[in-house]
Amino acid sequence: MAGSPLAHTRENGALAGGILADAQTSVSASPPQALGFFTACLRQACVGSAAKGENLAALVRNWQDQRLPGSGQWVRRLLCQQWRSATTGVAAESSRGLPVGGPELLTAGLSDPSRRQLVWWLGICSAWVASLVVIGGVTRLTRSGLSMTEWKFSGERPPMSARDWGLAFDLYRMSPEWERVNRSISLEEFKFIYWVEYMHRMWGRMLGLVFAGPAVYFLSRGMITPLMGRRLGLLFLMGGTQGLVGWWMVRSGLQEPEDPHAVPRVSPYRLAAHLVSAFGIYALLAWTTMTTAAPTPALSSASLALRQGGARLRGWLIPLSCLVGVTATSGAFVAGMDAGHAFNTWPTMNGQWVPDDYFAIDGPRNFFENTAAVQFNHRLLAYTTVVATLLMVVASRRLALTPTARRLATAAAVVAVGQASLGVVTLLTHVPVALGSAHQVGALSLFTVLLGLLHHVRSPELSAAGAMAARYGSPAAAGCVLLGAALVTQMK
Ligand code: HEM
Repeated sequence: MAGSPLAHTRENGALAGGILADAQTSVSASPPQALGFFTACLRQACVGSAAKGENLAALVRNWQDQRLPGSGQWVRRLLCQQWRSATTGVAAESSRGLPVGGPELLTAGLSDPSRRQLVWWLGICSAWVASLVVIGGVTRLTRSGLSMTEWKFSGERPPMSARDWGLAFDLYRMSPEWERVNRSISLEEFKFIYWVEYMHRMWGRMLGLVFAGPAVYFLSRGMITPLMGRRLGLLFLMGGTQGLVGWWMVRSGLQEPEDPHAVPRVSPYRLAAHLVSAFGIYALLAWTTMTTAAPTPALSSASLALRQGGARLRGWLIPLSCLVGVTATSGAFVAGMDAGHAFNTWPTMNGQWVPDDYFAIDGPRNFFENTAAVQFNHRLLAYTTVVATLLMVVASRRLALTPTARRLATAAAVVAVGQASLGVVTLLTHVPVALGSAHQVGALSLFTVLLGLLHHVRSPELSAAGAMAARYGSPAAAGCVLLGAALVTQMK
C-alpha cells in the first residue's frame, strides 16, 4: 500500500483520489488487507470532526462517480460491508444499554415494560393531536372560530352567569363577523359557537398537560434518554407555537376586511400555516411513537433482497409523502377560501375542464387567492396523489418486501382512492360539516399509513449511521456521515 491511507484521511479530505488508488492496489493485492483498510477509513471518517466526515462523503462520491473495472466492484462491496459492520457495532452497544444516541436509540437501555409505557403515552398524544385537527376542522366548518374575541396564553374561564354571557356576546357584537354575517344570531346560537371554539382551545391546552405531566414523571423515573428529551422538548415547543399561530390566525378574522362587501374570515395563509404545523407535530409525534415501539429497523436483520426492496420503496415513498403534504396544504387553501362552495360539479368545473378564470389574479397570489385556481389545483394534486399511490403499489409488487410492507402499501392505495372519492362527494354536497370533517380524517389517515410504511422500511444503515454520528461527532459530522451512508445505500 502506498503510504498510510489513514494518514491521508487525517490530513486532507481532498485526498480521496489517493485513497482510491491505495484501495485499488490493496484490493488486488489482498482482500483481507483491504478489509482492514476500509474499517480504518470508515472509523476515521466517522470519529471526530466534520472534516473527517466530509472525507467519507468525498470518498464515497469518488467511488460512485468512477466506473471501476474489476476490483472496483470489490471496493464497493467491501465498503458497504464495512460500513454495515462498523455501524452495527454501535447499534449493538446501544442495545446493551450503553448511553449512546441515535434515531433508534431513543429508548436505549430501557426495559420492555418501560418502553411500552412510553409507547402508550406517545400514542395517546398522537391520537390527541389528530383529534385536535378534526375539532379544528369542525370549528371552522361550523363557523365558530371567531366567536371568542380574546385570547390568553394561560387560558380563559368560560362565561358562567347570564351577565358573563352578556359580556361575551357584547364583545362578539363588536366583531366584523357579527356586523356583516351574523346580525340575526340569538344568544343561544352564540353560546353554541362559543362552546365549540372554547372546546378547541381547551382540548389544545389539555394536550399540553397530557404531554408535559407524564413527561416529568418519566423523567423523574430515568426513562427519558437525552435524545428522547431533546425530541420531547422540540415537540413541546412546536405545541406552544401552534397555540400562538392559532391566535395569530383568529386575529386576522377579527379585523375589518378592506372590501366592504367581503365576508370576514381568517387569512387562508394563516389557516394553511396552522394546518401544516399541526400535520408537522402529528408526523413527528407519530414517528417518535413508532420508533419507541420498534426501535430496531424492521429490515436490520432482513436479507439483502429485502433491504434492496425497502430501499427502492423508499425512493417512492419519500416523494409520495411530500406530495400528500402538498395536496393537504392545497386543501387548506380550499378550506380557507371557502372554495368548496363554488364549482360544485364533477368531473368538470361548471362544465369546463379548466375554468375560464383560472388566471383571474396577476402574479403568484393567483394560486392562493383565486377560488377557481385554488380548487382546480387541489383537484389536480389529488388526482396526481392517487395515481402516484397506485403506481407505487404496482411497482411494489415487483419488489422483495415484507408482508407488512405489502399490506401497508395496499392500505395506502385504498385510503387514497377513498379520500379522493370523499373529496368529490364533499364538494358535490356543498361541504356539510360531517363530510368536511371526514375528508380531514381521510387526509390524516393517508398520511399516517404512508408514515407507517416509511417507518417500516426505514434504512437500517441510516439509523445505525445516525447512532454512530450522534455518538462520535458534531451535528456537522453527523450530517456528513449520514450523507456518506445515504450514498453507500444508493450504491448497493
Ligand atoms: C388524496 C387526495 C386528497 C387529499 C389528501 C385531500 C386533503 C384535503 C385537506 C387536508 C383539506 C383541508 C381540510 C380542512 O382544513 O378542513 C381538504 C379540503 C377540501 N378538499 Fe380535499 N383532499 C383530497 C382530494 C380531494 C378531491 C378529489 C376533492 C374534490 C374534487 C377534494 C375537495 C375538497 C374540498 C371541497 C375541500 C374543502 C373542505 C372544507 O371547506 O372543509 N379533495 N382536502
